[in-house]
Amino acid sequence: MTWWHDAVFYQIYPRSFLDTDGDGVGDLGGILKKMPYLAWLGVDALWITPIYPSPMRDFSYDISDYCDVDPLFGTLDDFDQIIAKAHEAGIHVILDWVPNHTSSDHPWFQEARSSRTNPKRDWYVWKEPTSDGKLPNNWLRSWSDQPAWTLDDETGQFYLHCFLPEQPDLNWANIDVRDAMAETLRFWLRRGIDGFRMDVVHLIGKDPAMPDDPEDLVAIGHVPLNDRPEAHVYLKGIRKVLEEFDGERTSVGEVYLLDPEVVATYYGQADELHMSFNFASLFTPWRAASWVETITRTESSHNAVGAWPTWTLSNHDNKRIASRLDGDPMKTRSAAILVLTLRGTPFLYAGEELGLEDAIIPPERVVDPGLRDPCRAPLPWTNERLHGWPSDPWLPFAERPNDFSVETQEHDSASMLNFVRSLLSIRKASTALRQGSLNELRDDNGVLHYRRESSDEVVDVYINFAKEPRPITFLPGSTWLLSSSGVKVPASGQLLLVPGDSVIVRVSP
Ligand code: NOJ
Repeated sequence: MTWWHDAVFYQIYPRSFLDTDGDGVGDLGGILKKMPYLAWLGVDALWITPIYPSPMRDFSYDISDYCDVDPLFGTLDDFDQIIAKAHEAGIHVILDWVPNHTSSDHPWFQEARSSRTNPKRDWYVWKEPTSDGKLPNNWLRSWSDQPAWTLDDETGQFYLHCFLPEQPDLNWANIDVRDAMAETLRFWLRRGIDGFRMDVVHLIGKDPAMPDDPEDLVAIGHVPLNDRPEAHVYLKGIRKVLEEFDGERTSVGEVYLLDPEVVATYYGQADELHMSFNFASLFTPWRAASWVETITRTESSHNAVGAWPTWTLSNHDNKRIASRLDGDPMKTRSAAILVLTLRGTPFLYAGEELGLEDAIIPPERVVDPGLRDPCRAPLPWTNERLHGWPSDPWLPFAERPNDFSVETQEHDSASMLNFVRSLLSIRKASTALRQGSLNELRDDNGVLHYRRESSDEVVDVYINFAKEPRPITFLPGSTWLLSSSGVKVPASGQLLLVPGDSVIVRVSP
């Protein structure tokens, strides 16, 4: 077991975390300022989404320089300070890395598009129009029904972009691209970063024949359809770069393939990704039977290849869990129990500890081409008009900001914030929850049950997904650790668990 097996990661989308220079956009200064809060909360690692120089068409997922910080966010020096301060607090830091595409403003692409004979031409994916002047294939880009190809008028070829036309795909089949990208990893590893979250990393391997996607699946876009052996070869190279440093640097891949069995193959034989996101958990409906299925499939697919699972319920691309649960506070707490007690590494999205919901974005404030603004609303820190932000933030706050603010919740022992903090500390103190096996998974008439077991401890979790109260009988000697409603296990060992409630008990010792 290394640190990242045990860690609870906390995802920061810097634009929305906290601004310190008054331009309305969160920055590295905001992260530095809130380091004591993160240490108090008890998270073990931060995942910081991109802060690279960028024209911001996809908010720094369109990178124009892999080895710098956009002035909007701060400086390299600020980033060094984040690493230093986080490490002082015992918190690890990983940074987003975007290997599949650059910005069309990146000097590499500027060179590549300048002529067919430019030495960097082959760093991107170019194709001739078909003989009747049509697109090279039927691939669609994300977030639209538009082709993944744009014709470069000057040079008469199409280039590939699985996202925006301003995000051309790199050609990983070219060894110079692989070498240059390895250097970008080394740049941050030398600065002391603990690893990377790797953006749509399965996409770097492409079928050189570029065949059409199956007609019945074209509409979902090419990204979730791209599962290729080439990616595994490149990932082995990436893993070696991380291992040049020490055995402690990690990677978590965004393998946006929706089948856990396929995702698990991206761990290789412990020679590809250290971890991969398990998106099944983001899309599992709030039903005990559905969770039994997701957990079973995750456990069996990962165990089969010796891979360590991850769990996540929210991120900067998807509706927040509290909104998916219609703002029901009890269910939102139970969801936190779920994600923090399953076997594997949990990833929390900033604001999840407050039970924050998505914001309502009026049409004139929409800025994201993928329409993901609602889950990127700024964090409310205080109860003043601007909620701790020095000026109006780039997106509106979610509704009832004072109810969800850190200021309100930190002083209320019954708040979601203090609930999540207790849960994190219970998890930290429990070898069963951090490292134990997961057994006795079942759906008992709408109550999800599983047992976490290490050599010195047994912990049981029960979550009532049913719409009615359900009786639970605990093993003799069980001690209460936490419940969503605050209900404790009575001496009789019998409890009527109300709808949405969940309870964690220690069975032994
Ligand atoms: C996945 C990231 O999570 C998303 O925010 C981004 O827009 C795309 N990859 C493209 O980089």
